[in-house]
Amino acid sequence: MMNDVMKIKTAVVRRLSAWYKRNKRVLPWRETTDPYRIWISEIMLQQTQVDTVIPYYRRFLDIFPNVDALAVARLEDVLKAWENMGYYARARQLHRCAGMIVDKYGGKIPDTLAELTALPGIGAYTAGAVLSMAYGQAVPAVDGNVRRILARLFAVRKPLDDLQTQKQLHQTAATLVPSKKPGDFNQALMDLGAAVCKAKKTLCTLCPLARLCQARILELQDGIPAKKKRPSLPHRQAAAAIIQNRDGLFLVVQRPATGLLASLWTFPGGFVEDGKTLKSDLIKRVREQLGIRIRIGEHLAEVRHAYTHFRITLHACKGYVSKETPKALACRDWRWITPAGFAVLPSSKIDRMIMQTLLSEIKM
Ligand code: ADE
Repeated sequence: MMNDVMKIKTAVVRRLSAWYKRNKRVLPWRETTDPYRIWISEIMLQQTQVDTVIPYYRRFLDIFPNVDALAVARLEDVLKAWENMGYYARARQLHRCAGMIVDKYGGKIPDTLAELTALPGIGAYTAGAVLSMAYGQAVPAVDGNVRRILARLFAVRKPLDDLQTQKQLHQTAATLVPSKKPGDFNQALMDLGAAVCKAKKTLCTLCPLARLCQARILELQDGIPAKKKRPSLPHRQAAAAIIQNRDGLFLVVQRPATGLLASLWTFPGGFVEDGKTLKSDLIKRVREQLGIRIRIGEHLAEVRHAYTHFRITLHACKGYVSKETPKALACRDWRWITPAGFAVLPSSKIDRMIMQTLLSEIKM
């Protein structure tokens, strides 16, 4: 296959670069070669769509304009700037990474694959993006979209989650990437994947590579990449206790420093174990977290959300506590807080949905 790649390399690069000149999206991280800015954009773009990322990217860079500013920031402020984008591990890793870059590299983002991929949260894709776009190195940046394009171009019929196939496509991309403007080449592939060589509806008539594309020639473009059936996501139940004190303040807890939604603020509670009733489990969870005994009152709200590996239905129930004072047992911290106070703490989407429902229903 490498022979096939070499054969069409010049044509691919020429056609794609001409197409990119006319069709490239104007995006804020394309107006810079600052490795810090490119790194931030690439981490945000890993699991979030371009349109959603743009305002977050601008705001994040206003608050943390360089590696040093990010390294000295409080994690809580970084999580707050990330709030609503989800996949918060990215924000925690970014923060940790900034500290390491300052300590180890004097605040300069490394410019080698080995050093970059040794940092937390930076894999071959992100390293390739930074090296090609910021440092002009002829390194590929291969994500799912690029794999899809290359699989079609060379009619690779194997499923793309196969590691051997991923390696092969990475090698293909490495062969194709030109030494002149490699960052533009990588981003041209991304734009082609977003606008033309799309996952569902391919627009081959608009494609600058159509005449070179093996899938198109063999009329296989809709069958590549091979689709695999996804098992449906497990559905978990969770419960939250809405506890207010005499002044109407809400009791909230900060999650442990590791695990799902680490360090974010939430209402007390947690997952309901299979076979347990919601009420008894909620009482148990709150006792584990805060060492207080609560009585459960009315069901106030129910919200649903989908994470990567499961769906969740969260039931919010009124909780009553006697005079006991909470202690931070299975949580980092706890506070009595107003809804406005809660809004400035980093929290997950589902908790903010609960708070919003409570406020709009004025049941409290
Ligand atoms: N997705 C990931 N990186 C991107 C970039 N630099 N431009 C557009 N979309 C992207």
